[in-house]
Amino acid sequence: MRTQVLPVDAASIRRAASLLARGEVVAFPTETVYGLGANAQSEDAVRKIYAAKERPADNPLIVHIASLDALTPLVSETPKHVPPLAALFWPGPLTMVMPASGVVPGIASAGLSTVAVRIPAHPAALALIRAAGLPISAPSANRSGRPSPTTAAHVLEDMDGRIPLILDGGPCGVGVESTVLDLSGDVPTILRPGGVTLEMLRAVLPDVRIDPAVLRPLAEGAAARSPGMRHRHYAPRARVVVVRGAPERVVARAAALYDGAAADENPAVLLCATAHAGRYGARTVYPLGDTQADMASRLFDALRAMDAMGARLVIAEATGTDGIGLALMNRLLRAADFSVIDA
Ligand code: TXA
Ligand code: MG
Repeated sequence: MRTQVLPVDAASIRRAASLLARGEVVAFPTETVYGLGANAQSEDAVRKIYAAKERPADNPLIVHIASLDALTPLVSETPKHVPPLAALFWPGPLTMVMPASGVVPGIASAGLSTVAVRIPAHPAALALIRAAGLPISAPSANRSGRPSPTTAAHVLEDMDGRIPLILDGGPCGVGVESTVLDLSGDVPTILRPGGVTLEMLRAVLPDVRIDPAVLRPLAEGAAARSPGMRHRHYAPRARVVVVRGAPERVVARAAALYDGAAADENPAVLLCATAHAGRYGARTVYPLGDTQADMASRLFDALRAMDAMGARLVIAEATGTDGIGLALMNRLLRAADFSVIDA
């Protein structure tokens, strides 16, 4: 199959919508990361997403809609927190998990009795969903286990020859995926931190809690509330190690790790502050930016860039877990398979 990459315009949106209506898979930009979309109501279409991604069948997909009225058919009931949260954060990087109606086939929800839904904030995503007139199941458009794509080039890297069309809307603004909030139980629980932060949710949901698997590895044999947490994620080909502690000590420890690496490991340091760059001398560094929002938006591109450079060891400085830092550290820790060194 030849994969076309088209800039977002009225004609490419029409073409993408007609592919979706015919049960094909199309990659499209969202404000978080690129998605790999298909008709959420078609088992055959959704099966193609799993095949293109090589995604394990036990990891369910988020359904993307363009307006609140499209939610009703997907759920058996609307939890009480949904309307106020939707009013504040939709369209936007918040996914809400609710009791499912059964309209979405079992393959898309991995057989769970719940369904995860969001209204994305990207104009191209909204235009595409509206033009298709369908709820769209869409995971991140990477091959399973790889860093999520934040540009059309990243999608092409993973999906060339596997899907007919990629809509190119430029780099994604947020750069990490949506917050997944489970509202199907008694206590609202963040299963995956993302663009809508804990602090933002707390202002409306004072009792919101964070699933323990967000910043710690899941215990052997423990049940995951979000099946995605069972799998290694966001990983470049390189081995990633996270170094945390006071900034001075982090720099010293990261530099020592770098110097102790074997020559063929071709190490690189991911910096959480541009200001640190000078302290690493001639060592290879990749500054993620100065604000946590910048760092989050560049993380996945950085992980892919490390691969392109042939790095086999990535030493990443840790950052704070306030605001979007929680999502950033969650992705970094997973990329590192929770390999952390306390400096
Ligand atoms: O920002 C995003 O959410 C992007 C863009 C494309 O919208 N999508 C995305 O999808 O990140 P994906 O498939 O890469 O991640 C979906 C996450 C997984 O961790 C999955 O386990 C979880 O949402 N999830 C989906 N349905 C669920 C459900 N019913 N209950 C619990 N977790 C669910
Ligand atoms: Mg993903």
